[in-house]
Amino acid sequence: MTVIKVHLDKRSYPVVIGTNTLHRLGRLAKKQISQGRVFIIYDAQVFALYSESLNAVFDELGVDVIETNLPEGERAKSDRVARRLYEWLITNQVSRDDFILACGGGVTSDLTGYVAATILRGVSWGVASTTLLGMVDAAIGGKTGINHRKGKNLVGAFWQPSFVVCDMGFLPTLSHRQMLAGMGETVKYAGLIGETMIGVVKRHLASEDMYNSMTLSRLVRMSVRYKASIVSQDEREERRRMVLNLGHTFAHALEHAVGYGKLLHGETVILGLYAAAELSCLLKPARVKNLVAYKTILRRLIAMLPRRKVQKERLLEAMALDKKRTGQKLKFVLLDRPGKPFITSDVPMELIEKSADKMLKVYSSEGGSVASNSGY
Ligand SMILES: NC(=O)c1ccc[n+]([C@@H]2O[C@H](COP(=O)([O-])OP(=O)(O)OC[C@H]3O[C@@H](n4cnc5c(N)ncnc54)[C@H](O)[C@@H]3O)[C@@H](O)[C@H]2O)c1
Repeated sequence: MTVIKVHLDKRSYPVVIGTNTLHRLGRLAKKQISQGRVFIIYDAQVFALYSESLNAVFDELGVDVIETNLPEGERAKSDRVARRLYEWLITNQVSRDDFILACGGGVTSDLTGYVAATILRGVSWGVASTTLLGMVDAAIGGKTGINHRKGKNLVGAFWQPSFVVCDMGFLPTLSHRQMLAGMGETVKYAGLIGETMIGVVKRHLASEDMYNSMTLSRLVRMSVRYKASIVSQDEREERRRMVLNLGHTFAHALEHAVGYGKLLHGETVILGLYAAAELSCLLKPARVKNLVAYKTILRRLIAMLPRRKVQKERLLEAMALDKKRTGQKLKFVLLDRPGKPFITSDVPMELIEKSADKMLKVYSSEGGSVASNSGY
């Protein structure tokens, strides 16, 4: 078991990574309450698969638990579901002595954290993260929120959890497609961290077993260590934390251009990372050799993506819209080489277009469908 700390003075907290950690999770939650109860908010699938084991742990520890579950998928991150949760918490007389536990992927932690931040002006909360994407990214750092009809994550708050638990035992039931989406954010960290993590990703892909828990837990540990250190330096994304948006300028525009829900967020991140690598090379050809290995990994993942129609014009329109909405030049996180990210908004439109072209060409020639077996 590994424990990595997010350092934020009095709001510091541990991220526990390992297997068979449910008892540890129960004890961490118990420590947060004196006489209170634990309100568990489950993802629907996670509820069906794991609530019995978790309840047994809380029973053994003598902790009172009240639970509910969410509609599945991104549509749960809505004002309507948040209101339903407020109703449930208030009807059950939630108090500041209680503790709220999110048990699910990024959707569950984003929504639960937002509800925890706003009910009674803030109740403590924690996360049992059950998806790869949640473990490497969404559960850590206290960015919580819901979607608005005009865009994703437009309503939210920074509200740090009291702990995060990433138990590898949750991952075997995750679908191949969700696992691949989680690899999108994981490979983002490989770009930010550099050669060591690229080597681990390469070995993971070569093992042809995307559920290989040894390499997965190593990848989760490396990603969490990086994210924890960035959040510890820049909690509210004023400077350094922006590097975590590597690949995301293209990814957000792609989600918009393809139509929300047609590609998963992590899937668009894979394409966005490829476009960002191409753009880095177009801006400075000397980077081509630095990024060969990284682009090879990304191409391998692109080959497993489901095929969707993407029109370049719509992608560029979505980027222009983003620029208009923020009133600022488009910001890109790019790579000088793996492990050396930099942020720039000084990018000629012609090169943005060219890198989008290159990415779409690879997607249309290599883009396949999600593997039906467990191999990459
Ligand atoms: N707050 C942040 O910093 C941050 C960062 C990145 C992404 N996000 C958000 O995360 C969300 C995506 O998260 P996600 O990819 O985890 O999606 P998700 O929470 O919707 O989970 C994906 C799917 O997997 C199922 N599932 C979850 N755990 C499972 C398990 N162990 N076994 C079987 N099925 C399981 C869920 O029912 C769901 O259908 C997006 O809304 C995104 O905006 C937030």
